[in-house]
Amino acid sequence: ASRKPMVAGNWKMNGSVELITTMADTLKNASNNKIDVLIFPPFPLLSKALEADIVAGSQTVSHEDAGAFTGEVDAKLVFELGCKYTLVGHSERRSIYGESNDVVALKFEKAQENKLIPILCVGESETQREQGLTESVVAEQLNVVIDKLGVAALVNSVIAYEPVWAIGTGKTASPKQAQEVHKFIRNKIAALDMSIAENITLLYGGSVNDQNSELLFAQADIDGGLIGGASLKPDAFLSICNSAQ
Ligand code: G3H
Repeated sequence: ASRKPMVAGNWKMNGSVELITTMADTLKNASNNKIDVLIFPPFPLLSKALEADIVAGSQTVSHEDAGAFTGEVDAKLVFELGCKYTLVGHSERRSIYGESNDVVALKFEKAQENKLIPILCVGESETQREQGLTESVVAEQLNVVIDKLGVAALVNSVIAYEPVWAIGTGKTASPKQAQEVHKFIRNKIAALDMSIAENITLLYGGSVNDQNSELLFAQADIDGGLIGGASLKPDAFLSICNSAQ
């Protein structure tokens, strides 16, 4: 397999017009021919990011087509703007906005129908890990998409494993813990299709910073990261990007 590393910054509900400019300047120094570097800023900043030559994507898309859905943004428009990617099923969308596995699968489908590459976020809560449910929770989150769309749908997708207990907590999964789940995900896909499993990009997310990224990215089945907090600091984000090659 020749998987190209990817580092994606999820700004969540943070950032500003000014930060786009600073980030664009800083990212010019990333070795982006060797790695895919992208940013998920809030919707109003997408055009600015694209104009500044940042590869940008949306943090979510609607599971509906265009229409009377006030406040929602459709995948067709995100693609038309020039985006290549969208996150789907981030744990904050699941827990704060009640997105079920079924809605996440619909969003995944809607993204691909409109030529966006979905980055499907999966991961267990702290209680689920303590109860030994990590693998079954992650498997279920993947199965809903695979059952609905078939394993071939994973060809044009990325999967981000983000243990909920590691998101924004400063409590990163150890490289070993993260690798175990990444390996589980890759093996699970391999049982259905070996070549898709070898080629799919698997990202780790959850308190990644410029001190811990190198060891995480060195794991066999970790192809890069989905970075929250540290993606708002241009210098830290650049070091994380450079540690992925
Ligand atoms: O999408 C990014 C993740 O939720 C990780 O956030 O790096 O702030 O823990 P964090």
